[in-house]
Amino acid sequence: MIKDLTAFYSKNAQGMKRSEIRELLKISRIPGMISFAGGLPASETFPVKELEEISCEILRQKGATALQYGTTEGEAVLREEISKWMMREKSTIRPENILVTAGSQQGLDIVSKVFLDPRDIVVMELPSYIGGLQAFASYRAKMIGVPQDDDGMRMDLLENLLTKLADTNKKPKFIYVVPDFQNPSGVTLSLERRKKLLELAYHYEVPILEDSPYRDLRFRGEPIPAIYSLDKQSQVIALGTFSKILCPGLRLAWIMAPSEWMDRMVVAKQAMDLCCPTYNQLIVAEFMKRGLMRKQVENIRNLYGRKVEVMLAALKKHMPKGVTWTNPEGGLFLWVRLPKHISANDLLPKAIANKVAYVIGSAFHCSGKGQNTLRLNFSYPTEQQIDEGIQRLAKMIRENM
Ligand SMILES: Cc1ncc(COP(=O)(O)O)c(C=O)c1O
Repeated sequence: MIKDLTAFYSKNAQGMKRSEIRELLKISRIPGMISFAGGLPASETFPVKELEEISCEILRQKGATALQYGTTEGEAVLREEISKWMMREKSTIRPENILVTAGSQQGLDIVSKVFLDPRDIVVMELPSYIGGLQAFASYRAKMIGVPQDDDGMRMDLLENLLTKLADTNKKPKFIYVVPDFQNPSGVTLSLERRKKLLELAYHYEVPILEDSPYRDLRFRGEPIPAIYSLDKQSQVIALGTFSKILCPGLRLAWIMAPSEWMDRMVVAKQAMDLCCPTYNQLIVAEFMKRGLMRKQVENIRNLYGRKVEVMLAALKKHMPKGVTWTNPEGGLFLWVRLPKHISANDLLPKAIANKVAYVIGSAFHCSGKGQNTLRLNFSYPTEQQIDEGIQRLAKMIRENM
């Protein structure tokens, strides 16, 4: 009999950690709990009726194809529709440069698998998306965070870092950015900084991984071009997803990458799951073909625009002095900073006892810092829950100040 079954884990598996957020999702199901913890889209936005009609039609008309294995790259009709969607921003996108993935999370895994050896450097925002951290960590990358402010990642600090690394002959494998209404902070990278980022990436010859699930969910302010649309040297890999603009349950997303990188990504995906579900891909392609996506996105934007206003008003009304928060122009999240001496980690059990949940900010810091920060989601709770939940949170923070 084997004494320690875990002794058989690979080095990669030994380093793997459960996501704090997925663990918190269990807590959110406790009756009466108001959860700002998850990153769930509002279920009332799911176009159930339209999807029901399209699904039945596909089964009736293309059942044999829909239920069969598909190509690893993805169904041609869907790749065509995705490239059209992206061509709103850059006219040279081709279906051949699109790889359909099972969520952007798989995109992150594929890029990591293709690019990362143990101890390779990945540069990212501080804080950054926890699922990105998890993917890079599972390939044992060394993650270096660059602090951001209200305009996103600080380019002066990025430049210092890249210069310092170059001085010791080191080069990151890529710079990972979530430039639009970032998860977790809600902050957007300014146009000036996007241009500077590309300039630095060209100068130091480092690829950029642009992960932007919330890009179409801008509810105010002026649109800013995607980084891939400004890229002139084929150095940007862009991740897009249907999770937040349609629904996450179909698990469909995409990687847009230069042809030279595409081939290995396809091989990497082949070894993971052969292909994404054909049926789901045909459904989404038809939804887009019918021109339903624009309306869908508009509905979501309007709803989240209202919800964020409720959250901002509640924060303003109830939070004690010394607590600050970001003012997102889109997306699903808002970032709260407590006074330096207060730990959001220590407060979490008390918050849960008071039936309100959030995600601790330190979970998003590859540096392990950010103890006085936390992330709030405003897409999933109702407007009434948002107001009540912020009151509970504020009361508890005040009592602990
Ligand atoms: C920045 C970012 N990337 C990737 C994902 C993964 O999304 P999905 O796998 O549902 O496409 C998320 C989900 O919240 C995210 O916020």
